[in-house]
Amino acid sequence: MIFTVAIDGPAAAGKGTIARAIARETGFAHLDTGLLYRAVGLRVLEGDDPVRAARSLDPTSLDDPRLRHADVAQTASRVAVLPEVRAALLEFQRTFARREGGAVLDGRDIGTVICPEAEVKLFVTASDLARASRRYDELRAAGQEVTLDGTLEEVRARDARDGARATAPLRAASDAVAIDTSDLKVDDAVAAALSVVRRRL
Ligand code: C5P
Repeated sequence: MIFTVAIDGPAAAGKGTIARAIARETGFAHLDTGLLYRAVGLRVLEGDDPVRAARSLDPTSLDDPRLRHADVAQTASRVAVLPEVRAALLEFQRTFARREGGAVLDGRDIGTVICPEAEVKLFVTASDLARASRRYDELRAAGQEVTLDGTLEEVRARDARDGARATAPLRAASDAVAIDTSDLKVDDAVAAALSVVRRRL
């Protein structure tokens, strides 16, 4: 079966949690596309050229814990502005989206650019403060020295850059179902997303 669930939205809105839960419940494969841009960002921080890094990326090994760092996230959103970087990562994502057995992809442009034909499109949002507090808790739990104000600024800077870029900006597809997770418990956000998927399966 070919079936794609496309999940887009701003940083730390809950896309990853929802995507993993859908993958677990359906048996679909999951791709966190942010990790592709983070992997390019990490290589750039190490001195590589962004386009060369994107073209030579091994998209099957994205488990470096450094990819979670806040400075890697910022660099990821800087390299994500470059059309050549996005072009280099496109084919892998499209093939993943239409693989046999179903796929869930989360990112910023999955429903609009990578897989406009996705059977389910979700646009997951939350207030700036809700998103920053969640990201702050995650980073602290991972042992990173961050402040809530700094995290709020970091999240806002990335959203502004992701929304304003010319190529594949952060946008809800016209046929996406919006889920605002600001006041939802994790289980309720997951249940809302799963019910949209189940209705279309
Ligand atoms: O989702 P995550 O926060 O890990 O993404 C890191 C950065 O990668 C985002 O801020 C965005 O600039 C970029 N990105 C993108 N398109 C995607 C996924 C991520 O431009 N599909």
